[in-house]
Amino acid sequence: MAMLTRRTLMKGALVVGAYAGGMGLAGQLGKPASARAATTLLTRRTDALITDKGPTRAAMTYGDAEVPPVLRMRRGVPFALRLENGLDEPTTVHWHGLRIDNRMDGVPFLTQPYVYGGDGFDYAFTPPDAGTFWYHPHCNTLEQMGRGLAGVIVVEDPADPVFDAEIVLNLRDWRLGGDGQFIAQFKPRDAARAGTFGTVRTANWRQTPQYDAPAGGLVRLRIAATDVTRILTLNVDGADALVIAADGNPVADRFALDHLMIGPGQRLDLALRMPETEGAIAALMDLRGTKPTTLVTFRATGASLKRNLQDLPALAANLLSEPDLSAATEIPFILSASAEERPKDGICGSLGYNFWAINKVPWADDSGDPTAPLAEMKAGRTYIFNVENPTPQVHPLHLHGLAFKPMNSNKQALRPHFSDTYLILPDEKVQLALVADNPGDWVFHCHIIEHQKTGMTSYVRVT
Ligand code: C2O
Ligand code: CU
Repeated sequence: MAMLTRRTLMKGALVVGAYAGGMGLAGQLGKPASARAATTLLTRRTDALITDKGPTRAAMTYGDAEVPPVLRMRRGVPFALRLENGLDEPTTVHWHGLRIDNRMDGVPFLTQPYVYGGDGFDYAFTPPDAGTFWYHPHCNTLEQMGRGLAGVIVVEDPADPVFDAEIVLNLRDWRLGGDGQFIAQFKPRDAARAGTFGTVRTANWRQTPQYDAPAGGLVRLRIAATDVTRILTLNVDGADALVIAADGNPVADRFALDHLMIGPGQRLDLALRMPETEGAIAALMDLRGTKPTTLVTFRATGASLKRNLQDLPALAANLLSEPDLSAATEIPFILSASAEERPKDGICGSLGYNFWAINKVPWADDSGDPTAPLAEMKAGRTYIFNVENPTPQVHPLHLHGLAFKPMNSNKQALRPHFSDTYLILPDEKVQLALVADNPGDWVFHCHIIEHQKTGMTSYVRVT
């Protein structure tokens, strides 16, 4: 333990409490949750100030503020929250990346009933891992997430290193027309390709917001890619940044951020060293696509704190079961295109198409008629998912309830790391090794929501 370093960091540490930079997120839900005091999380329609064209009508949010609150939890401490559904359609909450009880996982039919408008549901669980996670519906997901239902979860560990500031970034796009109002969430032709992209890009529901942080200070940036479609290539301009955690789990060896690709559902924790001089600006950039986009800027304030990234203590590892590769059972998962018509049934918002499949089975998700599990696993045993992507698209594959270690890609050099979402490239073959240590039915799907909703969904069963 680098005690000396830690003491240095704590001296004069300014922990920014307004996680959205003074945009009103630090409401009742911003406080650490205690085990007993069940908080209420209300889903509702709202007007949102996203563009300069005036309020965008009929957005959807959680809670009282315009933007969904950052939910703060503590590793190993029971958390309870009552969902109140103020929408005129059913919803549920899925806690993306949290390895919790299957009954709390938020998947209609598979793990819980619909929560109809006017109804509620009590979620209660103990988050086992510290890190950056997020929450979103698993019903009519394209529409509900597209209109705003996605918030960030911070699970704290008392042993977390102290930073001079913390900034939580919920990165997402919106499908808005020139008048700033919602347009159709998807085009079938795009759903069969990379997905339908948003037209307005935001961080915490604002276009290129600017945050202040102490000059020469160390900032913990907690980034969640909550968009339904867009893959990002992240870089920081004007400051040094280290990747300290990815998808909730600390990376074994921190490394400098350099054109790192993350997909919908993934998270990245960066240690950002602010510029020395007051007023200097650093920027978080997306370099994917034809022109670079500035997502967020950071302005240095005050006299330099003269911190050094190298002095930052390592994050404590989460307690995850190490796969036993000598006794592993391999299971194939082959992604593919599909072309079946699909009736627009189901009250969780079927898109009416099957464009995708896993092991040739298209499951349109949120459906009243789930197919059989694609694999059955025995609790406590090690499995290796042999995933192949012969399609021309990149797919962020997300597994609920369990953590896997990606290994042996034929396309990318992998760092040893536990994750819940793997961004698989075209023609990539990868192995995801895991211990099936959490019983239940766990969904395994692409997090490009149009792919998820048009067939690229399955589930596995742990008994
Ligand atoms: Cu964020 Cu089923 O996932
Ligand atoms: Cu996909």
